[in-house]
Amino acid sequence: MTPDHKGDETSGGMPLGIDFGGSGIKGAAVDLTRGDFAGDRVKIKTPSKSTPDAVAAVVAELIGQIMERHPDATGPVGVTVPAVVQHGIARSAANIDKSWIDVDADAVFTAASDRDVHVMNDADAAGLAETRYGAARDHTRGLVILTTLGTGIGSALIHDGVLVPNSELGHLEIDGHVAEKRAASSIREEEDLTWEEWGERLTVYYRTVERLFTPDLFVVGGGVSRDADRFLHLIDIRTPIVAAQLQNRAGIIGAALVAQEALDS
Ligand code: BGC
Repeated sequence: MTPDHKGDETSGGMPLGIDFGGSGIKGAAVDLTRGDFAGDRVKIKTPSKSTPDAVAAVVAELIGQIMERHPDATGPVGVTVPAVVQHGIARSAANIDKSWIDVDADAVFTAASDRDVHVMNDADAAGLAETRYGAARDHTRGLVILTTLGTGIGSALIHDGVLVPNSELGHLEIDGHVAEKRAASSIREEEDLTWEEWGERLTVYYRTVERLFTPDLFVVGGGVSRDADRFLHLIDIRTPIVAAQLQNRAGIIGAALVAQEALDS
């Protein structure tokens, strides 16, 4: 990765980031110099049947809305999806329509929007953004693991600033359960767990990841990271664990960053 992207006219216009989540699809033009949105974020509800074509139509609509606000946002478009993405092709669909599996997501989005679109896993994008601009920016050496606690559990493994994509640590099997089915934020809500009860489940989860990877730092993202002071201290592990700083902006910012870097290389 090159250290310094302007995201301005020197690299063909400001990049856009778009984040496909369970409830909403959100996007913004991104200023990569500051590592933040260049203006307002726009959002459209996720279609109830979230097939690739339905989501691509929403992505095209969002790009149009962002361009009305930022005519200079003519750069590459990064889109995050909650799935394994291998060279632009979706390879899993844990919490989205099963028709995503083996779809060339790069090609579907590029065709629908007539823009250069680069698709990636949502947690990977958030992890890169937190490493570059957020909670892990001082950890340029060693292993940082970002986890997003939301509908599922996403993960990003970043070693010496370099991402190992598609780690999928939310799907570790622990005590006979898929980890995200026990410890995701959605499960806390569904089962009406207290913060303490959820903290116990998170402790089991993070201890397992700690034992397997010996990270230097955990960063906890996802919407619930806004409430970090209610549960982070309940996670009883040795590794330092901190809340994400970019919170729900991380996916969009990371998407734009990766798209810009893919274009530059
Ligand atoms: C998916 C991951 C995704 C995570 C967070 C999991 O169910 O398998 O790819 O990163 O949810 O959205």
